[in-house]
Amino acid sequence: MNRNLYFFTLMFVATLIILVDNTVSYRNAYMAAEDSTKLQALAIAVSLEATLMNVKKEDYLSARNIFRDIINEGKWEGIAFIALYERGGMTLLHSNHNLIGRVIKDEVLDKMTSTYEIQYAYITLGTGERVFTINMPVHLKGYKSLPVLRVALHTLEMDRIRAGSLVKAGAMTVVLLILWLLGILLWKAMKRTDRLKEELAERERLASIGEIAAVLAHEIRNPLGSIKGFAQYLLETASKDEDKEALNIIVSESARLENLTKDMLIYARPSEVKIEPVDPVALIRDVVDGFALQSREVNFDIIADFQGKIMSDRDKIKQAILNLINNALDAMDNRGVITIRLAPAMDGVLLTLRDTGAGIEDTIKKDLFKPFFTTKTRGTGLGLAIVKKIADCLRGEVSFISERGKGTEFRFFIRDLRDE
Ligand SMILES: Nc1ncnc2c1ncn2[C@@H]1O[C@H](COP(=O)(O)OP(=O)(O)OP(=O)(O)O)[C@@H](O)[C@H]1O
Ligand SMILES: [Mg+2]
Repeated sequence: MNRNLYFFTLMFVATLIILVDNTVSYRNAYMAAEDSTKLQALAIAVSLEATLMNVKKEDYLSARNIFRDIINEGKWEGIAFIALYERGGMTLLHSNHNLIGRVIKDEVLDKMTSTYEIQYAYITLGTGERVFTINMPVHLKGYKSLPVLRVALHTLEMDRIRAGSLVKAGAMTVVLLILWLLGILLWKAMKRTDRLKEELAERERLASIGEIAAVLAHEIRNPLGSIKGFAQYLLETASKDEDKEALNIIVSESARLENLTKDMLIYARPSEVKIEPVDPVALIRDVVDGFALQSREVNFDIIADFQGKIMSDRDKIKQAILNLINNALDAMDNRGVITIRLAPAMDGVLLTLRDTGAGIEDTIKKDLFKPFFTTKTRGTGLGLAIVKKIADCLRGEVSFISERGKGTEFRFFIRDLRDE
């Protein structure tokens, strides 16, 4: 958990650093370009003011083309237009002489009626182009109210920086995506290694438990047989009721222990697989017939969407189905419906076994297949561990879904081992 936190914090910090660095360097470059454009605009405006100061008011008409000529002279680069406005918006001079005499209104000029400070502003032209303007009040002969000189510059440098930064942002996005992709792959690989390690440790632990269990079960079996045998013998000859009761307990508890040792041996014994043709439908009917006699209040519903034979280990499959049905019966208190369905699946058949029992608590779901895990007072907890082992050694799969109060469905995929 902690490692996940470190990992993602690291990724976020790396992403943040890249984004901040990108934004800051873009802003700096843009501001530098804007500053230099401002300086250029100011230089042009100041120099034009000097030129205009020499023109007399009555000469303005003959000076109509003065701005156009200045642009054509090519002394300054990047000029979009130059204009001189009277306060109020009347165009006194313009590099496009068709516009001379027009009254224009815009925010900047409006603002200039109340201030004598230079204003810098972006303006969008009729052509859609955005230009950078300096708006400067100038002292001209014959004008008491200072007219406004406007020099508009193309924003080439800034546009170039903006386009460059767009390309850079695109590249950064790709880099970040790759970084995240690699990060996530790495993280997944790490998790997988962790899981494999855990699985390996668990398997080793179970293997050693299995060995001990097998030895114990084997050692217990013989003396247990004698105990049970002698108790049965004594039971036949006992006359007192208390003796009979005590001997009965010895016999039934020995039988229970016998079952336990049997399960332990099934679970722990090295599993040899005997592959033969198996008719799964017939096998299920066989098993169910045995149960149907004992549990009369349970209805078995068999749906066979699969016909034919598969290659597998008959005894092992039978054992697994027995264990699953036993669990279902326990969960239903021997009352309800058990639906067993066989359906064709890729490379085998899928057996689903659904009961109408109590269902399984979410908290114990992860432990169900562990050996010796049981919620029953007289359970050994080996039933599902055996099913899992059988599924593993037949290269099948077993899983379940369950809802508390509604029932449980076990899915047992039996692989057809034809080509093995
Ligand atoms: N169909 C089911 N419905 C509800 N709970 C189930 C079902 N199958 C298994 N369980 C739960 O899983 C636990 C483990 O089952 P498992 O078959 O391994 O052991 P057990 O039935 O308790 O004992 P054993 O089968 O060895 O006598 C059970 O104790 C039970 O709580
Ligand atoms: Mg069981």
